[in-house]
Amino acid sequence: MDGRFLNRVAVSVLISVVAMGGALVAVRSIVPDTAPAAPVFRLPDLRAVSIEPYMPRASLAHGTLLAGRICAQCHGFALGSEGNAGPVLAGVVGRNIATLPGYAYSAALRQHAVQIWDDQKLSDWLMAPARYAPGTRMSFAGLSDPQDRADVISYLHTLHTPAPTPITGAP
Ligand code: HEC
Repeated sequence: MDGRFLNRVAVSVLISVVAMGGALVAVRSIVPDTAPAAPVFRLPDLRAVSIEPYMPRASLAHGTLLAGRICAQCHGFALGSEGNAGPVLAGVVGRNIATLPGYAYSAALRQHAVQIWDDQKLSDWLMAPARYAPGTRMSFAGLSDPQDRADVISYLHTLHTPAPTPITGAP
């Protein structure tokens, strides 16, 4: 082992160290090692909105339209229209949560069964089902506009049993 060989080893070690350091600096400059100040994606805040002031202004016509366009993809509205992905919504207002006989609810929603669907709970649920009952099988992102929720809830109010209002006018 002569001096020149040791020299070469020393130089190559030096080069590797410099290269690694350079790579680290480069990576640091691309990927900041601090968390971003605010999360990029925010779920809606469930405590946020009281639905009460929106109910008197609710449009039944618009609620009927939204229900026909969106909710009808998974729900029947009249008793006897079982067999969809979601439970029949006839009589849902005032009913205990997740208690329609014959429908297999998720454990996530059944946890709420001691409570009754009123306007505020329906609003909270429809704003963000996955926040209201994490693990729910209702794979629907939610209605972010409180007036839309009030409109749909006013439609749900018409779904008395045994004679719910049929959906009309939905395109
Ligand atoms: C992609 C399908 C889908 C869509 C769209 C959908 N739902 Fe649901 N919904 C479900 C399923 C599935 C459940 C049962 C959830 C569970 O057991 O976790 C459910 C449960 C519910 C319940 C609870 C019923 C009960 O008996 O306790 C209500 C109320 C409800 N949905 C209302 C609506 C309304 C109003 C809309 C339209 C704005 C809507 N859903 C849109 C699939 C859907």
